[in-house]
Amino acid sequence: MMTTLNSAKWVAICPSDRLAHQTIVCVRLEAVDLLLVRDGDRIFACERACPHEQADLGLGRVNDGRLFCPRHLASFDLHDGNVSAGWPSRPLRRYAVGIRDGQIWIDAEAVKSAVT
Ligand code: FES
Repeated sequence: MMTTLNSAKWVAICPSDRLAHQTIVCVRLEAVDLLLVRDGDRIFACERACPHEQADLGLGRVNDGRLFCPRHLASFDLHDGNVSAGWPSRPLRRYAVGIRDGQIWIDAEAVKSAVT
């Protein structure tokens, strides 16, 4: 995931220390609302609106590799995006991230192509 951080498509989106004391940070890129999510020492990026009924996942919580929606409590696997059993929802959109120079970088091209 972090092999091409020098490419123009990668943008620094947030100082990495913002995630030191919180597990979810809301950011915006290419007019898309996203979340940076920390689970232990791993960082993930994903869409902010829940794919089930668009609740704000920025108000959710993280536990054991899963992001829990605050509205209906379905949860999404941060590693593959899959929703918990029994929910009629597509997987959570996730995006590649990397950490360099004290910043969290995200693949802006992937974000752009996911919404166009
Ligand atoms: S809106 Fe997120 S689980 Fe229903």
